[in-house]
Amino acid sequence: MLKGKSVLLGISGGIAAYKAAELVRLLVKEGASVQVVMTANAQRFITPLTLQVLSGQPVCTDLFDLEFESQVGHIQVARAAQLVILAPATANLLGKMAAGIADDFLTTVLLATTAPVLACPSMNAKMYENPFTQRNLEQLRNMGTHVLGPGLGTLARKEEGIGRLPELSEILESAKRILTPQTLRGKRVLVSAGPTWEHFDAVRFISNPSTGRMGYALAAVALRRGAQVDLISGPSPLCPPSGVRFHPVKSAEEMRDAVLEVAPGTDAIVMAAAVSDYRPQQVASHKLKKTGKDLEVLLVKNPDILALLGQSRGASSRPVLVGFAAETENLIENAREKLVKKNLDFIVANDLTQCGSGFACETNQVKILDRSGDITEFPCMAKEEVAVQVFDRIERLLLQETHGE
Ligand code: CTP
Repeated sequence: MLKGKSVLLGISGGIAAYKAAELVRLLVKEGASVQVVMTANAQRFITPLTLQVLSGQPVCTDLFDLEFESQVGHIQVARAAQLVILAPATANLLGKMAAGIADDFLTTVLLATTAPVLACPSMNAKMYENPFTQRNLEQLRNMGTHVLGPGLGTLARKEEGIGRLPELSEILESAKRILTPQTLRGKRVLVSAGPTWEHFDAVRFISNPSTGRMGYALAAVALRRGAQVDLISGPSPLCPPSGVRFHPVKSAEEMRDAVLEVAPGTDAIVMAAAVSDYRPQQVASHKLKKTGKDLEVLLVKNPDILALLGQSRGASSRPVLVGFAAETENLIENAREKLVKKNLDFIVANDLTQCGSGFACETNQVKILDRSGDITEFPCMAKEEVAVQVFDRIERLLLQETHGE
């Protein structure tokens, strides 16, 4: 989403200004072209040179710099921006913005730009809670400025409270959402993710190495496009994307209950979870002690959640149903069988034996099989890009339905 985009990063003078260096690095890594603009006070916390090296572009600091104005000019900087991020946005900067004051490079550019603005406030808790700051933020929100945070936690001088700059990953995600067309607005999407844990005693279970990365990427992409997203996840080390309705579960049976509760009324369901097909018949309430003998654990069948959804949908085209097929052999045949058996619209098949594919990986190399027999092959891609392909296809199906109705 940020690839090839011109992002203007405005930095004002708060202690969190040091984090702006890392934010520039992350934006550049995402493929954005970053123009940094700093207030005079921001330069007391972090040097323009640092940001210039990281962004690869001259940093704007002085409205009356004769050389810069003759070559580029502040109006051109304002015009070139496709998104403005203010991080940190101090109480002073927010106050000036709300009042329409333009007395330095940054505030002048803010009046001159037509790009969306994402303000990330960061300040002392008392300053944030001050009615002037609250009024200014309210006014800015009403006028269309996107405001993210601030977060809770440790502030400068070891104080605790509200006022921290939001996590950089959250800033990036918000930036992506602002730049994404809201093609799924008004739609409800359910995504399942992660492994399931099937306990056989109080502390031991049967599971698989899934981390939930694919499912969390799917949820993030749907949220970005404006959908209301329920994420039903088995145990995962990942943070659910902000704005998602999160339902943590452990076992396949818990996942089935949560899915069946949320499913009615959804427009699309994507089952990316690696659900255990079996569970131990008996679960000891204590930790099993070691004996001199072997331990036998009898496994019984778990419900097939996706098959249940396919059955209950019958001949209806809603919700759009998408499955994943993780295989180690006969990829196409096995995936096609699952597609038909579970009554899906399409299935995303990946070969676990291939490098860059499968569990706990950043990437995935997939083939998408649909009901008409078509197979689309993709190169090895980031899981987020796979998620983009999945939702492009879901949107096409939703559109067909709308037109067909
Ligand atoms: N799935 C499910 N419930 C299960 C097992 C799988 O909903 N108990 C879903 C998965 O989330 C996935 C699809 O069904 O979207 C295929 O899962 P997979 O594990 O590849 O296949 P299985 O149907 O379990 O068959 P097998 O393990 O024999 O390959």
